[in-house]
Amino acid sequence: MPDHAEIEKAIKLLRLGEVVGIPTETVYGLAARIDYPTAVEKIFSTKERPFFDPLIVHVSSVEQAKSLTSFWGPVADALAKAFWPGPLTLVLPKSDLVNSMITSGLESVGIRMPKHSMTLEVIESLGVPLAAPSANKFGRTSPTSAEHVWQEFKNENVFVLDGGPCDIGIESTVLLVKENQNEPQISVLRRGHVLISDIEIVLRNADLKVEVLEAVSKKESPGHMKHHYMPAVPLIIAKKEHGNGAELLKIVNQRLQELPDSIEGVKIIKPEHGIESYQILNLSEDPVIASRELYSELRRIGESGTECILFYQESHQVGPYWENLFDRLNKAASLIL
Ligand code: TXA
Ligand code: MG
Repeated sequence: MPDHAEIEKAIKLLRLGEVVGIPTETVYGLAARIDYPTAVEKIFSTKERPFFDPLIVHVSSVEQAKSLTSFWGPVADALAKAFWPGPLTLVLPKSDLVNSMITSGLESVGIRMPKHSMTLEVIESLGVPLAAPSANKFGRTSPTSAEHVWQEFKNENVFVLDGGPCDIGIESTVLLVKENQNEPQISVLRRGHVLISDIEIVLRNADLKVEVLEAVSKKESPGHMKHHYMPAVPLIIAKKEHGNGAELLKIVNQRLQELPDSIEGVKIIKPEHGIESYQILNLSEDPVIASRELYSELRRIGESGTECILFYQESHQVGPYWENLFDRLNKAASLIL
């Protein structure tokens, strides 16, 4: 079927209040129109996601984004102009168009304009923004291809708009922007491909004085968990000095036994018996390419029949793009040696 027929099908299903898998440049989303509460509720039930974790709303224009907010100031404006469409989510004071199920009862809403022509076309034709979290079961690895989404929801029979593999491969940078009182302030709720240094350059060029805070409180970012993105078998992060083979497996088995069954409601992946095999996760040397590979490699190795995935952290893996990658990798890991 040509792309436009697929796009039409996605629009039709969304109009009917169904959830649909949509491509973006970061990861695939599981989308529903924001003005149908029963459709939004289907996102949570399909993902088995708790209601305390707010959803990002996807728009096709800055005007549409503005309509979702009760305050749109110069900081939001400069950042949207510089980075949209692109991997940046702005958390801003919400308007009445956004219901509290989307925001988990918060007075703010996360908004972004994704950089994917098919999804932008869907939103534009529909004329309604789409709420869309990453299209994976709660706590599990995010999807970076349509195939991943089909696999994840094969029992739920979700239609997925195939827009090819995701270009960036990890989720958007999320910023909480406060500028309707006192000095403008930004808190980084989630790191991503848009770096803090990129943000600072844009603000400086726009002559905006803004304090950028990197620490986040649980209240400001309720979906911020210690564990997330977990593959089907335990992921272990080790260093070369931990050795390999039987010597390494002995330490791993001992430590896996000590793990709790779940942390913050996310099931910790651990085997019932001692494990005897592992496969190494190899990523490219360039952290931008490595980020693109990360989730699909976690899925591929996790489903290959091996009992655990081993990643050797190396000393050259430093700098902001590696920090973004390790933010995901550390949360996906059952053990960090
Ligand atoms: O790249 C992305 O952002 C992908 C694609 C599909 O757009 N979406 C995504 O959504 O990663 P999700 O639901 O997996 O992560 C959204 C996170 C929430 O867990 C929460 O931490 C934060 O964004 N968030 C959303 N709205 C918020 C709000 N009002 N206040 C604080 N944090 C919010
Ligand atoms: Mg997610």
